[in-house]
Amino acid sequence: MIIDPYRDDLNKIVILNPKGGCGKTTLATNLASYYALRGPPPALIDNDPNGYTVRWLEKRPRNSCEIHGIANHKLSIHATRTWQLRIPNETSTVIIDTPAALGRHEINELTSDADCILIPVLPSAMDIRYATNFIAELLLLTQFDRPVAVVANRTRQNTHSLTMLLRILTNLETPIIAVLRDSQNYLHAADLGLGIYEMPYHRVKKDVEQMDLIIDWLDQLLTRTPVNGLGMRNEIFS
Ligand SMILES: Nc1ncnc2c1ncn2[C@@H]1O[C@H](COP(=O)(O)OP(=O)(O)OP(=O)(O)O)[C@@H](O)[C@H]1O
Ligand SMILES: [Mg+2]
Repeated sequence: MIIDPYRDDLNKIVILNPKGGCGKTTLATNLASYYALRGPPPALIDNDPNGYTVRWLEKRPRNSCEIHGIANHKLSIHATRTWQLRIPNETSTVIIDTPAALGRHEINELTSDADCILIPVLPSAMDIRYATNFIAELLLLTQFDRPVAVVANRTRQNTHSLTMLLRILTNLETPIIAVLRDSQNYLHAADLGLGIYEMPYHRVKKDVEQMDLIIDWLDQLLTRTPVNGLGMRNEIFS
């Protein structure tokens, strides 16, 4: 099942924000669980020495859909090639969770062949200032030329800070593709090694609807992603 180290047919989604606790791992695990349900099994790469993503994978029930977990804690010049070596052939989507407090060199390395970057941002004044500085740096200094989008996380709708975030990001030409509410459902799902898409629908309907906007954006972007036999996402999960 080992693939060619240079295969370039993978959809690589990097979840990035050097600010701690903004929801990177939550977003990464929930996307992985979505793609696992949809098939084929995605790969979830944990670059955080704390290994939270790995622990989440270990908690997954035996009968849950498969996710290929890869712990890539050693960030080296050749890290990207190294993890590609371990991605199974059947996988088409790779979700890359990154740790907080990354330096510029590590960011360059982790994003060098990403297809897109998702940046979760908490809507506090401090987090917004931090995130917008980071995005400006990412776009201007590293000249990252693939799509970058923000996910406003743990948000109450129509707050002053969300309006502020929108205004700043408009100037940076970076869209907010989804606004996720603060919801205990993420914690309950994580405790079980699941994502919200794997929870009883009536309990997580609101969260799924919000997360669907991220999936829609990714689907439009990642044309290489095969849609499975059922064809329509809504038919799978409704
Ligand atoms: N939308 C949400 N609603 C409620 N709780 C959330 C939400 N998103 C994240 N959390 C919680 O916030 C905490 C931090 O989230 P998470 O671990 O995903 O952040 P992180 O960016 O990966 O942190 P780190 O930078 O330390 O890796 C976790 O306890 C998580 O369960
Ligand atoms: Mg994390």
